Amino acid sequence: MILVTGGAGFIGGNFVLDWLKVPENEGIINLDKLTYAGNLATLDSLKKDQRHIFIHGDIGNQALVTKLLNDYQPRAIINFAAESHVDRSIHGPAEFVNTNIVGTFNLLECARKYWNSLQEKAKVNFRFHHISTDEVYGSLSATDPAFTETNPYEPNSPYSASKAASDHLVRAWFHTYGFPVVRTNCSNNYGPYHFPEKLIPLVILNALNDKLLPIYGDGQQIRDWLYVGDHCSAIREVLTKGKLGETYNIGGWNEQANIDVVKTICRILDKLKPRADGQSYDQQITFVKDRPGHDRRYAIDASKVERELGWRPAETFDSGIRKTVQWYLDNPVWIEGVVSGSYRDWLQKQYN
Ligand code: NAD
Ligand code: DAU
Repeated sequence: MILVTGGAGFIGGNFVLDWLKVPENEGIINLDKLTYAGNLATLDSLKKDQRHIFIHGDIGNQALVTKLLNDYQPRAIINFAAESHVDRSIHGPAEFVNTNIVGTFNLLECARKYWNSLQEKAKVNFRFHHISTDEVYGSLSATDPAFTETNPYEPNSPYSASKAASDHLVRAWFHTYGFPVVRTNCSNNYGPYHFPEKLIPLVILNALNDKLLPIYGDGQQIRDWLYVGDHCSAIREVLTKGKLGETYNIGGWNEQANIDVVKTICRILDKLKPRADGQSYDQQITFVKDRPGHDRRYAIDASKVERELGWRPAETFDSGIRKTVQWYLDNPVWIEGVVSGSYRDWLQKQYN
């Protein structure tokens, strides 16, 4: 077995689905707290797959995590569980400290005790894979080179500070205890099952619902977009071939200004589902108050994972964003399930 945490969320859910598509792969214990961002509907297709064991619980629950490790004896842990939305971290940082820092600490401690109890062969094969973000490196100017694995950590938001802290814990557990870890720091993901608080799914759904498309500030902030299936394939490579104690940057060499991403989505929707009045969806774009402390540019230098592990993304932004828009058009039931009362409350709070 492998233990996946946060596997009912966006990236964890895609990872679990992709992993279990391969009949030879071992089973997954999926530990998820089912916060507003966790959604069992994402995992609907696995209802009859006995290799998927879903456990509703918190990575911060020591007794539960210890019991799961002892009962299922996983050969690896992949830690996706986190509070992940920068804007929410600005409104309420406490949950980010609880899950991202204290929760990761708890998971590391339980896993270390479990690892110490293993027989020699299982001990040598075990690994703890921590999923992190490019945001820990801070913000780049237009001319700075892309982030490499040796960039200093300069997090600017409560979210990225909490992820940076968790990365430091993971690193320290390797150096101090010899605990077998690998880390991956990825750029912005997009694709199916993405919760519509994040830019790309928010814009697709607002466009289709005749709502405004909110662009923070001048819309010239740059993000480096990677299709979620490519992130998942990179994680599989690192899990299998990554060197213990190392970190690998994952990205798609695809920097785009926010305003350009939004205009691309509008153009795709204009073709796939034209507005009744024949106008372009870009009529709905509106510039709103900027995010406090908004990082200007992220860019990932993915040469290390390409050179050392031979990983490459399969999708271009053009192919990935088309697939993504089509997925949201084809999956109204999943969408209805996530745009509940609490989602509407969030939109009201954030966009007034
Ligand atoms: P998400 O918010 O969609 O999903 C997070 C999942 O974790 C949810 O299912 C939630 O219920 C679960 N969770 C939250 N707190 C938990 C807890 N205490 N115990 C157990 N489960 C808990 O997030 P995502 O976008 O899928 O991100 C997954 C990971 O990847 C995070 O660690 C994030 O920092 C990192 N990451 C995300 C991106 C991105 O673009 N989305 C890019 C790079 C790295
Ligand atoms: O870089 C990796 C990170 O990418 C992950 O670690 C985070 O978990 C993930 O949420 C994402 O963070 P961002 O803040 O970059 O993603 P978000 O989709 O929230 O915003 C993308 C850009 O779009 C950012 O510059 C803010 C802007 N934006 C966002 C929203 C929600 C808008 O202009 N308008 C919006 O309404």
